[in-house]
Amino acid sequence: MKPPKNLLLCVLLMPSLFITISQAQRPPPATIDQSFISFLISTKGLEFVKDLLITEAVSSLTPLDIPPIQNTRKIPFLGNVNFLLSNITIYQINVSESYIKPGDSGVAIIVSGATANLSMNWYYSYSTAWLLPIEISDKGNASVEVEGMQVGLTIGFGNQEGILKLSLLECGCFVEDINIKLDGGASWLYQGFVDAFVGEIDSAVENAVTKKLKEGLLKLDSLLQSLPNEIPIDDMAYLNVSFVNDPVLSSSSIGFEVNGLFTPRERMPISDFNHKDLLTFSCDDPSKMLGISVDEAVFRSASSLYFNAGYLQWIVDKIPDQSLLNTAGWRFIIPQLYKKYPNDDMNLNISFASAPAVRILRDSIDAMVYADLIIDVLEDHEVIPVACILLEIQATGSVKILSNYLVGSVKLDDFTMSLKWSKIGNLRMRLIQPVVWTLIQTVFLPFANTRLGKGFPLPIIRGFTLENAGISFSNSSIVVCSDVAYEKSYDLALQIL
Ligand SMILES: *[C@@H]1O[C@H](CO)[C@@H](O)[C@H](O)[C@H]1NC(C)=O
Ligand SMILES: *[C@@H]1O[C@H](CO)[C@@H](O)[C@H](O)[C@H]1NC(C)=O
Ligand SMILES: *[C@@H]1O[C@H](CO)[C@@H](O)[C@H](O)[C@H]1NC(C)=O
Ligand SMILES: *[C@@H]1O[C@H](CO)[C@@H](O)[C@H](O)[C@H]1NC(C)=O
Ligand SMILES: *[C@@H]1O[C@H](CO)[C@@H](O)[C@H](O)[C@H]1NC(C)=O
Ligand SMILES: *[C@@H]1O[C@H](CO)[C@@H](O)[C@H](O)[C@H]1NC(C)=O
Ligand SMILES: *[C@@H]1O[C@H](CO)[C@@H](O)[C@H](O)[C@H]1NC(C)=O
Repeated sequence: MKPPKNLLLCVLLMPSLFITISQAQRPPPATIDQSFISFLISTKGLEFVKDLLITEAVSSLTPLDIPPIQNTRKIPFLGNVNFLLSNITIYQINVSESYIKPGDSGVAIIVSGATANLSMNWYYSYSTAWLLPIEISDKGNASVEVEGMQVGLTIGFGNQEGILKLSLLECGCFVEDINIKLDGGASWLYQGFVDAFVGEIDSAVENAVTKKLKEGLLKLDSLLQSLPNEIPIDDMAYLNVSFVNDPVLSSSSIGFEVNGLFTPRERMPISDFNHKDLLTFSCDDPSKMLGISVDEAVFRSASSLYFNAGYLQWIVDKIPDQSLLNTAGWRFIIPQLYKKYPNDDMNLNISFASAPAVRILRDSIDAMVYADLIIDVLEDHEVIPVACILLEIQATGSVKILSNYLVGSVKLDDFTMSLKWSKIGNLRMRLIQPVVWTLIQTVFLPFANTRLGKGFPLPIIRGFTLENAGISFSNSSIVVCSDVAYEKSYDLALQIL
């Protein structure tokens, strides 16, 4: 009905898309910050986000009150008629088609062919001054159906000191056609009403929707600003999820990078980890919404953090075969121990000699652990270390996703042992080996797996959960590719719009 305006919208919105898609090459950023966890939202993921945003936007847009409109029209035979529209409310909006398109400068969301229903009260008055000086007035209500409403917005993404920042680059709303239905009123009223108000209702709806969307985006932005930049793991560590570098927008995806390292709660030096350009990763299954790449440096940061905190050592005084915690249990294996300390209780002091070295290989995770196993004898409430065995444990790890946690487990591949020192003479390692192997299997690994089984939380915004996640290994990182579900009970609209 009003092609010039439609054209205007196209002119407004489209160039940004075409420019953005063709500008594949961006100047490289001045500095590249270290990033060890990165996210890639695929086309399907963007569709999901778009549908979610539109659903939330529509439910928050209705009911939407529009300021009253006043107008005066010259009506044949009646003269100047004053009209007033009040109590104008958009009470329903339907969206039939929508698109999302990331480009280099921002992400465009376009809704086309939306319909909306408005209700309002009308009132008019005119004076028949030339006949009799009386004022004539009437009132009633009306319903208006808005058709072919188009809304477009382009959202820019940036990184502002570790926080993802949204900005509205463009926003427009355009109404193609409206149908007016009046309840009551004189026969001339309809045409007068249409003449007086079609343009005004158009722009009132356009302005109201645009204003509301701008407010919504500001709130979405402040929601992002309020996201924590650290996720607590336990009383010793948190995960640093500060955004680093600018989001990477391509024509089919958006990539984000966060620091991603385990960080001690109390200041202590953490080793340097080499930067990798993680945003080169992709999902084997392109139909997944989200890819998350976790570099092996994340695991190394955890490993060195807990090692430096003195957390990787413990005293074992309960084991499945408790007889092994008495010198009598070692009578035939280390006879001289029994001879020197007959029937004394023992404990085992296990401490890591260095932070476990974690490597992510093509199809598995390798961990190398060097641990000191000190045999303590408990005599008259005194702890007497009698021997120390160095264990070199080679383990294979596996990981899986449990809700939004990446949880792990390890199994023993191989181990070697050597005597570090002894106060009870030489030990026959060949005899001790099976006992130590049993200890590793029944004490050491279950303990490690209890800890690893708690896993660590992947940085996912509250209200969203991973679904049908798959895990693959590549380029010394773990890649989780997953769909995402949104908990209906978690009312995003309350937070955003
Ligand atoms: C305004 O409109 C609503 C329904 O859209 C109606 O319930 C209400 O009574 C109206 N208020 C006035 C003052 O007419
Ligand atoms: C609006 O959406 C509802 C629910 O999807 C549908 O039943 C109804 O027909 C739609 N109305 C219009 C005018 O598109
Ligand atoms: C608007 O109201 C009309 C009837 O009054 C109805 O047929 C239509 O489905 C409604 N449209 C929306 C988008 O609610
Ligand atoms: C509009 O007016 C008609 C009668 O004139 C009435 O039946 C209807 O309930 C009114 N609707 C609203 C929303 O006030
Ligand atoms: C968290 O990561 C950001 C970005 O890499 C970094 O600037 C900041 O120093 C880190 N915070 C801590 C406590 O290490
Ligand atoms: C591994 O990294 C290289 C560049 O460092 C990249 O070209 C390649 O696509 C990456 N492979 C995967 C599977 O992500
Ligand atoms: C366990 O052994 C380490 C040395 O490896 C030592 O520093 C620590 O004090 C011992 N712990 C206990 C409780 O004996």
